[in-house]
Amino acid sequence: MENKIKEIVSNFYKTEQIESIKVFNSKVIITLVGSELENADSEITVRVKSLDNVKKVSVVHTVSKNVSKPSPASFDDKWNVKGVKKIIGVASGKGGVGKSTTSVNIALALANQGMNVALFDADIYGPSIPTMLGYEGEPVRSFDGSTFEPFMHANIQSMSIGALIDRNTALIWRGSKAVGAIQQLITDTNWHDVDVMIIDMPPGTGDIQLSLSQKLDLNGIVIVSTPQDIALIDAVKGVNMFQKVGIPILGIVENMSYYICENCGTRAEIFGHEGAKETSEKLKVKFLGEIPLHIEIRETSDNGMPVVFSSPDSPHSIAYENIAKELLKELK
Ligand SMILES: Nc1ncnc2c1ncn2[C@@H]1O[C@H](COP(=O)(O)OP(=O)(O)O)[C@@H](O)[C@H]1O
Ligand SMILES: [Mg+2]
Repeated sequence: MENKIKEIVSNFYKTEQIESIKVFNSKVIITLVGSELENADSEITVRVKSLDNVKKVSVVHTVSKNVSKPSPASFDDKWNVKGVKKIIGVASGKGGVGKSTTSVNIALALANQGMNVALFDADIYGPSIPTMLGYEGEPVRSFDGSTFEPFMHANIQSMSIGALIDRNTALIWRGSKAVGAIQQLITDTNWHDVDVMIIDMPPGTGDIQLSLSQKLDLNGIVIVSTPQDIALIDAVKGVNMFQKVGIPILGIVENMSYYICENCGTRAEIFGHEGAKETSEKLKVKFLGEIPLHIEIRETSDNGMPVVFSSPDSPHSIAYENIAKELLKELK
């Protein structure tokens, strides 16, 4: 694949101008030294796109050859995520419980408290952070052809596995491939002086989740659960897995805890209430707080302006900020 691309590029640029060609499944990033020749890049894009399985092509120009990087950490080491002080994983026993919604709003709440925050979307099964932060479809930028610039939206740095691969590709990946792609993306992104990074983990407790929790140097895990019993059983599995590999559980968040009618303000406990609180007491894990099921929370995330960013003084935002504060206490 790389050779075919090289051949195409060589029709327009000198071979020594080709600094790197990176292929991430359906995405190709070509980095060239020197400035763009007229119409060359669009022609290259068209030709490379006509190759099998190529969906996205980015041609990047740099002024000088990049300095070679030290070799990546060996497989047994923890990944070296440079520029990041602390990492918190957000996990859930199953999908659809609001893990991503909680991740993004907690990240924004930490940023509101003056921290330099990053959000990394590692959910290969359903990367939704680009939508929630409003950068869906934006190309990944690289200045040197070998590292990525984080997206900067709502005052937080962010990167998503969804920016590099499409969902169907991720679903057929075997565990090691998915883990390798996440490693490359998180260690090759230029994080700038991050106090806390939040990671939206893939849901569940399978092999991928296990190797991620062994490789990421996590300072702790937050488990998101809904009050339904079945979700709580899944949450217990999650707690067990992380405890087995020695990662501190910072606490459990109960999402969709109760429903507030958007017309009359009545509170209804549709799924029962405080299930997560009881479970956390049983497991001797901290209960971090509860978030209601409310249309404003869903709509703001769907629109790329999560509630903590779009209305920081609303009761929902305050609920997220309280959770963030509890979290920081546990992190010390
Ligand atoms: N507290 C909430 N109130 C209303 N809608 C919510 C809430 N939490 C999540 N949602 C919605 O539920 C759906 C699933 O949430 P999401 O965060 O994507 O779950 P997960 O990441 O666990 O799969 C999304 O449409 C989201 O907007
Ligand atoms: Mg999600």
